[in-house]
Amino acid sequence: MSWSSIAVLGAGTMGAGIAQVAARAGCRVILRDLSDDALERARDSIDASLAKAISLGKATAEERDAALTRLEFTTSLDAAVADVDLVLEAVPEDLALKQRLFREAQAHCRADADFATNTSSLSIATIAAATDRPDRVIGLHFFNPVPVMKLLEIVRGEATRESLVDSARGLAERLGKTAILVRDTPGFATSRLGVLLGLEAMRMVESGVASAQDIDTAMTLGYGHPMGPLRLTDLVGLDVRLGIADYLFATLGSEAFRAPELLRRMVAEGLLGKKTGRGFYEWGS
Ligand code: CAA
Repeated sequence: MSWSSIAVLGAGTMGAGIAQVAARAGCRVILRDLSDDALERARDSIDASLAKAISLGKATAEERDAALTRLEFTTSLDAAVADVDLVLEAVPEDLALKQRLFREAQAHCRADADFATNTSSLSIATIAAATDRPDRVIGLHFFNPVPVMKLLEIVRGEATRESLVDSARGLAERLGKTAILVRDTPGFATSRLGVLLGLEAMRMVESGVASAQDIDTAMTLGYGHPMGPLRLTDLVGLDVRLGIADYLFATLGSEAFRAPELLRRMVAEGLLGKKTGRGFYEWGS
């Protein structure tokens, strides 16, 4: 099916970004979070991003207005999922939370509604196993900032039906994203490689190879990455990176994913990156 209505569960950075690009692409979108405050923050960030898109010549005021009319906000799960083609979750990386949310959602949505998870590393099959429709569950992994990043990583679970992959490819095309298709393995393609680079960069800081800044400059100027692995870790959040590293170490069993002591210590000290003002860099408030 071509997904033209989407319930996005979780209005954080990723959920708000996904809701924004889907609404701009012509989908009816219902963005759901637990509190009005969370929805208000999402609305502000969408407004700011659309304003920036206009100032950059990437959207017109008419396109912004049309997108906003297709976007609804609610704290009610039942209302959000009641009549949509796709239920897409973008809540924190907590397996039990994602499973519980899908179980609750399936009680209120259409029997033919498809489910997607924006998880960056967890098993699609395990999330799908919590539902009554594992063949209708797929991974749709977006990247931050969603309106700017061109990739959509489609993750096919063991039971995912082929028609969902087609629907996902169709959505990617409408959103102007390039899709890649990845088998359901820990960390998929993007997180597995991206996290590895970040962990190795931390081990290099730890053993005094070079400063964080110089290691980042190595990758930006030497390899053309838009941002070095340590600055990116600061943006993603050191706690988030540690959670993924621990999960990949446990599931893939490779020493390469063992979290460096430096990362553990910084997380314990609350140096989580941009969101706490300090990580590998100092961030102004
Ligand atoms: N709406 C639409 N387009 C926008 C926009 C908006 N709000 N804001 C910016 N753009 C466009 C710009 O017009 C520009 O387009 P062109 O290339 O066509 O000119 C492009 O986006 C880049 O914008 P800027 O020049 O303002 O941005 P920049 O050069 O400072 O780069 C960045 C910013 C794109 C974020 C860059 O720093 C980058 O790529 N960083 C790395 C980001 C990254 O790695 N993200 C992945 C994180 S991991 C993740 O998300 C997954 C996970 O599982 C944790």
